[in-house]
Amino acid sequence: QLKKTDAVPLLMSWLLGQESIVCSDPTTVAAKLRKMVVGGAGKTVVISDFDYTLSRFANESGERLSTTHGVFDDNVMRLKPELGQKFVDLKNKYYPIEFCPKLTMEEKIPHMEKWWGTSHSLIVNEKFSKHTIQDFVRQSRIVFKDGAEDFIQSLDAHNIPLVIFSAGIGNIIEYFLEQKLGAIPRNTHFISNMILFDEDEKACAFSEPLIHTFCKNSSVIQKEAPFFHEINGRVNVILLGDSMGDIHMDVGVERDGPTLKVGYYNGSLDDTAALQHYEEVYDIVLIHDPTLNVAQKIVDVIN
Ligand code: TMP
Repeated sequence: QLKKTDAVPLLMSWLLGQESIVCSDPTTVAAKLRKMVVGGAGKTVVISDFDYTLSRFANESGERLSTTHGVFDDNVMRLKPELGQKFVDLKNKYYPIEFCPKLTMEEKIPHMEKWWGTSHSLIVNEKFSKHTIQDFVRQSRIVFKDGAEDFIQSLDAHNIPLVIFSAGIGNIIEYFLEQKLGAIPRNTHFISNMILFDEDEKACAFSEPLIHTFCKNSSVIQKEAPFFHEINGRVNVILLGDSMGDIHMDVGVERDGPTLKVGYYNGSLDDTAALQHYEEVYDIVLIHDPTLNVAQKIVDVIN
């Protein structure tokens, strides 16, 4: 009789056979997968980044697509070029700092706080309405990775919680999911920056604490969040991310099970040092992968 764990060597040989997948320690990955398969769906939680992880990095022509904050750059540029330019200037100044290989995380943090703080002040000062922001999302260049809708719905069907942990803007992710899926699935929860609206549904503040790329860890997880009881006892974590700031998203979920870290590498193939760094911190590195196929295959063997 076939055991569920028999699927693990098959998945491993598939992973190891793919040119654009790097798995530098296959023994550890196989051991984590076996534990996850034995635990099954009931012991699993998926913690995922959103921008360039569930959403695509570039379109077929190689043009960069939008992040959740980028929704403002594009739409405001169209309606109020002067303000739009301010968002773009901020990105041009701070994005290279976020990914600068020469700066330490400690050196980057004050710049990230400044970037997020300034960007959020621009949004609040302009008092954008909820309706306008929903329209911005409808017209945005945020695109789901191939298979992302099915992935989210299959997690819901198997009662596997999905925690979207994003330093982007949570409301924008919510509106995007509502527009693409019809509604936010019951299993899906958010840890993110939320725009707060006044009684006229105009942006008036952002939630605290501020979440930027380098504080995606237990320091910003509100343990009293209503969904926390749902992930209690979920000892096995599948973590999906695309940056160095994503690798500690599981810290704060108290447990002793494994975390399988799957990282999307969107950088240049010539940057061998960066790629090597990803291979050190992520169990499985997916190079320029516009799909959710690997995450789906992992969930399929667990179910
Ligand atoms: P995350 O993918 O780790 O959740 O981070 C969100 C990304 O959003 C990060 O790469 C920086 C980017 N960002 C913008 O594009 N524009 C902005 O105004 C801000 C504050 C962040």
